[in-house]
Amino acid sequence: MGNFSNNLRLYLGVCRRVGHTLSLGMLNKDRREKLLSLYNQYETKLGQQDITPIDPFVIPKTDVFELFGNDNAQYEGVYECGFGHTTEFELKVISNLVKKFNPDRIFEIGTFQGRTTLNMAINANPTALITTLDLPSEGLNTTALNIEEGEVRYVKKDVSGERFTGHPMADKITQVFGDSATYPFTDHHNSIDLAFIDGSHAYEYVLNDSNKVLSIMRPGGLIIWHDYTNWEGVWTALNELYKSDSRYKNIKHIGGTSIAILQV
Ligand SMILES: C[S@@+](CC[C@H](N)C(=O)[O-])C[C@H]1O[C@@H](n2cnc3c(N)ncnc32)[C@H](O)[C@@H]1O
Repeated sequence: MGNFSNNLRLYLGVCRRVGHTLSLGMLNKDRREKLLSLYNQYETKLGQQDITPIDPFVIPKTDVFELFGNDNAQYEGVYECGFGHTTEFELKVISNLVKKFNPDRIFEIGTFQGRTTLNMAINANPTALITTLDLPSEGLNTTALNIEEGEVRYVKKDVSGERFTGHPMADKITQVFGDSATYPFTDHHNSIDLAFIDGSHAYEYVLNDSNKVLSIMRPGGLIIWHDYTNWEGVWTALNELYKSDSRYKNIKHIGGTSIAILQV
């Protein structure tokens, strides 16, 4: 009982102090600055986690490709991932798809740091060319369609494509900037062998990006979507296309990943 009343007193004391700090305490400049410095420390930690998650596991990684010997691709930065990236295994799956389909022309929507772009370049043939489209920070408030609140953090960044900048593979990569709803896809008409759709995850954007990308594919080309199982906008749009548009009837979800693919 003694313990209970001590804990209750402690709890009420903390509530009173937090309540005071966040209300009347805000009138005090010292307290405001202390709170701001605490918040900044927290944000910095979160920011670091975005790129290199704190990983308490020291045991080396493996996956089914390594275990069963069907992994034909090469990689860079597979394990340096966090929010906004493909998972380690998904990156290997995409790299192996590039290896298998041997595309000459690749189109990506959503460059971000360029981790998948770089690995597609590493696994594509020496003369292959990749065009990667990204919405820059300054385009955030002028998109033709609405993007999701939760993806603003991926648009707001100082640079796009830092994973391949200065890399020998960068010769294969052309960066273009803009909104996928207004980008002139017709310039790539009938020329793309493999496309990776990973821009905005909003329903309207997934429909837009799917149809625009479909219009630039060569017959036999492969479309890859990311985040089918992670974002409602993506699964709602892809389910609808699969059920109601015969051009998408052969779409497949790769189990154990959030990737969907369609050979056109
Ligand atoms: C999840 S990140 C892409 C991750 C990257 N494909 C990878 O595998 O590492 C989403 C990217 O899409 C871009 N984006 C969001 N909306 C877009 C739009 N309407 N047009 C073009 N790019 C967009 C963002 O700027 C962001 O860089």
